Amino acid sequence: MSFDLLAPHYRWMEWVLAGSKLQRCRTEFIHAIPAPRQVLMLGEGNGRCLIELLRAYPLARFTCVDASRRMLDCARKRIEKHGLSVEKVEFIHADILKWSPAPQQFDLIVSHFFLDCFEREQIEEIVSRLALGATAEARWLLADFCEPAAGLAKWRARLVLKLMYFFFRQVTRLPASRLTPPDPMLLRNGFTLRERRLADWGLLHSDLWVRSGNLKLGQT
Ligand SMILES: C[S@@+](CC[C@H](N)C(=O)[O-])C[C@H]1O[C@@H](n2cnc3c(N)ncnc32)[C@H](O)[C@@H]1O
Repeated sequence: MSFDLLAPHYRWMEWVLAGSKLQRCRTEFIHAIPAPRQVLMLGEGNGRCLIELLRAYPLARFTCVDASRRMLDCARKRIEKHGLSVEKVEFIHADILKWSPAPQQFDLIVSHFFLDCFEREQIEEIVSRLALGATAEARWLLADFCEPAAGLAKWRARLVLKLMYFFFRQVTRLPASRLTPPDPMLLRNGFTLRERRLADWGLLHSDLWVRSGNLKLGQT
């Protein structure tokens, strides 16, 4: 799978298809968390959330892991274009399924529109491995798509998701063909949902997950 083909078009496509809705979801809780010291960003793509975090937390250090070299290049260029310090950011070109963080390193994990790329077993693996790299009181910011429980909103979401998965599977060879909510995996790894905000008829959600300081790390 690779987002390389899509990388140069990702920004305008998002603008045409979703306007500013996704960016609002990405940035919803940025100012609702304690200042992080070490931030892990998963599949950050072209860096739109990264620049907002750099502005909000200039003392933090960032690690961005992405499997697309062209997405990482876009993110780096975006930082430079906005006059922010690229020295604060380590860009890692890697498949998240093969990458592991050092233990208890990150006090903030950010995964926006990322876990929806994977199948259930892969999400299990990603969340449990990365949770080992989180501190005992880490925050996890997560914006993604979701399917409302009933009504017109549910059918609208189903249609949008079907079209989206069809498109992304053709262009990027995405492994997932349907949405798997990561909530049970986050709960099993010691994170509690502090707040969820829904947008666009319940098609989008922004979450703030918080890890309990009492957790025995490594326990699932
Ligand atoms: C749908 S895009 C989301 C980008 C961005 N986070 C956003 O909010 O729009 C998914 C991103 O995850 C990256 N990605 C997909 N699979 C990956 C993997 N196995 N390992 C690391 N990054 C991956 C892609 O290269 C892409 O940048």
